[in-house]
Amino acid sequence: MSCRAQEDKFQDDPLNSLIQIPAGFPPIPIPADNSINLERYLLGKKLFYNPIMSRDSSISCASCHRPELAFSDQEIFSKGVGGAIGSRNSPSLANVAYHPYFTREGGVSSLEMQILVPVQEHAEFDFNILRIVDRLNQDSQFIKMSLEAYGRLPDPFVITRSISCFERTLISGNSRFDKFQNENKKYVLSVSETRGMDLFFSKRTQCSFCHSGFNFTNYAFENNGLYKDYLDFGRFRLTGDTADLARFKVPSLRNIEVTSPYMHDGSFPNLEAVIEHYNEGGKPNVQKNQLIVPLHLTKQEKKDLVAFLKSLTDIEFIQNPKFR
Ligand code: HEC
Ligand code: HEC
Repeated sequence: MSCRAQEDKFQDDPLNSLIQIPAGFPPIPIPADNSINLERYLLGKKLFYNPIMSRDSSISCASCHRPELAFSDQEIFSKGVGGAIGSRNSPSLANVAYHPYFTREGGVSSLEMQILVPVQEHAEFDFNILRIVDRLNQDSQFIKMSLEAYGRLPDPFVITRSISCFERTLISGNSRFDKFQNENKKYVLSVSETRGMDLFFSKRTQCSFCHSGFNFTNYAFENNGLYKDYLDFGRFRLTGDTADLARFKVPSLRNIEVTSPYMHDGSFPNLEAVIEHYNEGGKPNVQKNQLIVPLHLTKQEKKDLVAFLKSLTDIEFIQNPKFR
């Protein structure tokens, strides 16, 4: 009975409009112990934007995952507490609800668990979740919201569950490309963008072999020939298997226009540099995927590919006031 009552409440809830699944997207996988409701979402959002999460109360999740940049940032490596510099570029959080695993080596299996990474990382919050719990329990507003959301006082369960609820609502699938594809609005893409799209999905470039499906990623761990010698060992860091050396999770390309700089180490400042990299066939590396070969693109074809990538920007998503 109480379960049913809660479901009904959710049906009338304004949150419903936030988690509409775009055409062509599968249902969002939601863990059994963390269904989304408005109270959980609101608490998660408050925590996401709150510097109370970091040791010296100086930064929040949103410092490195900014809504107007599709929840990424503009730094090569983001700065954590005390200006400590991390070793990887901050990724977009658009559609993280669908990721089968997290971080670039795929070492974290759920969004809930992923929260513990920035909390503890020295170059991020440099803190301890139990100390965050203490802080929240001194704040009557957080106590009230926690009781409403999960029927218990703020604790690690509430922190990790509620922020994950907020993150699962960050769905982006309404770019001009989507309108072109799903709403049959052929005029929304320019001639150059359409040519770029055909190239992207062609056998010649093979881009869509790895950047495939509704989220433009097959979530595989691949080497795209960025370097001959990598400083970051990628998935090898997790598995210790030499076959995984310098392999990184294939990133989604949605909203790619606003998530520069690019690659795990932010080494490419713009999309033109990325296309130049693929056009040259990358650097020699034993791990390099055999699809990464010189493409012999003309100047115009390079421009077309960049134009297509920019059609993946979802303005409604990056400007959505509900996520602020
Ligand atoms: C100091 C900057 C910084 C802060 C603060 C930060 N992050 Fe991140 N975040 C990153 C970086 C860098 C990565 C990439 C890590 C990697 O690939 O190894 C990342 C990765 C992630 C991922 C995995 C995305 C994927 O594609 O696998 C999620 C989810 C995430 N962060 C959510 C959060 C949440 C929630 C918070 C707050 C509790 C937070 N982050 C705080 C910089 C930050
Ligand atoms: C063999 C698989 C594969 C193919 C084919 C491939 N990519 Fe990638 N792509 C990757 C991987 C893996 C990364 C991330 C590498 C890293 O983080 O160092 C990446 C990164 C990118 C990025 C940067 C994303 C970001 O958020 O930093 C862009 C843009 C991109 N690829 C576009 C393309 C285009 C355009 C093509 C076709 C010309 C293409 N890719 C072909 C695997 C591939």
